[in-house]
Amino acid sequence: MRRGAIVQLLVLGLLAAGFATAVALLFDWLPEPASRQAGRIDFLYWLATGISIFVFAVVTAVMIYSIVHFRVRPGDDTDGPPIHGNTRLEIAWTLIPTLLVIVIGVASAIVLSQNSNAGSNPLIVKVTAQQFSWQFAYPHNGNVRSAVLRLPLNRTVELQMETRDVIHSFWVPEFAQKQDVVPGLVTTLVITPDRIGTYPVICTELCGLGHAVMRSEAIVMSAAGFEAWVKGNASAVSGGGAAAGKAVFAAQGCGACHTFKPAGATGKVGPGLDSLFKDAQLAGLSVPDFIRQSIVDPNAYVSPGFPKNVMPGNFGSSVPKSQLDALVNYLIPPTTKVVSP
Ligand code: CUA
Repeated sequence: MRRGAIVQLLVLGLLAAGFATAVALLFDWLPEPASRQAGRIDFLYWLATGISIFVFAVVTAVMIYSIVHFRVRPGDDTDGPPIHGNTRLEIAWTLIPTLLVIVIGVASAIVLSQNSNAGSNPLIVKVTAQQFSWQFAYPHNGNVRSAVLRLPLNRTVELQMETRDVIHSFWVPEFAQKQDVVPGLVTTLVITPDRIGTYPVICTELCGLGHAVMRSEAIVMSAAGFEAWVKGNASAVSGGGAAAGKAVFAAQGCGACHTFKPAGATGKVGPGLDSLFKDAQLAGLSVPDFIRQSIVDPNAYVSPGFPKNVMPGNFGSSVPKSQLDALVNYLIPPTTKVVSP
């Protein structure tokens, strides 16, 4: 090969590589990783991106060089020279891509096995998905429940996920992993958060009317902050009174679907809970009876303009009686609340 041709191919290749590298670096394609697993996945992305840039540069350089040098000149009606292949070239373009794909495959297998290893002592979090909310329970921490996923920094967590109805899918972009939640199965996901912050929990499987609002938050906090939260939450739920009702409201994720000013909830899937007095009149029940019925038997009376079978029908069996009482009491509008002397 002429020396001039090699120089031209090299320049074209460097230009193509420079362009592709700029596209890769100038945009924020992925959120900043917030877990060790996400960091490994990020490394894999950059490995594959680097290899892709190399292949892109070689192919683009050869293509542009060929288009320029071997194009048909005006008035040239001859056939091109007969070519019977080039064994050395063919071995090279078979072997190099094969090796690159093997590198990606082996690196991915290693990351996959590391990312599914929860170690010997993970923090267990039970995740319950249902149309259209997430609930998180901490069986090793006094069975504290929460509608928000709180995680201590640098502690490996194993999510054990179940659904009460259809297929949902758990996704925190900053943790980089997705895991489906499938009826009849307990699926798991291992997370070791390594950056303090608040990240969105998103349902990423079309699961019904409220799919788009089936969101929560993952809050990564210091180990001490997490311990304090566990203690405070456990005493609030068992303490009784408005604090208990508020804690149950939050733990059951009611705010994902309902607007309720005292809780700062702005959900729009189900009826608002700030005008229950009026709704109870329409249903022909006393306010407390109406609220209890709406929680344990939601299809008995559905507010006009809302479809049946959207509100889960199993709160009566899944929420302990004392917590249900606290929740009902919490939802009663102030003017109709029974004031004890
Ligand atoms: Cu649950 Cu989409």
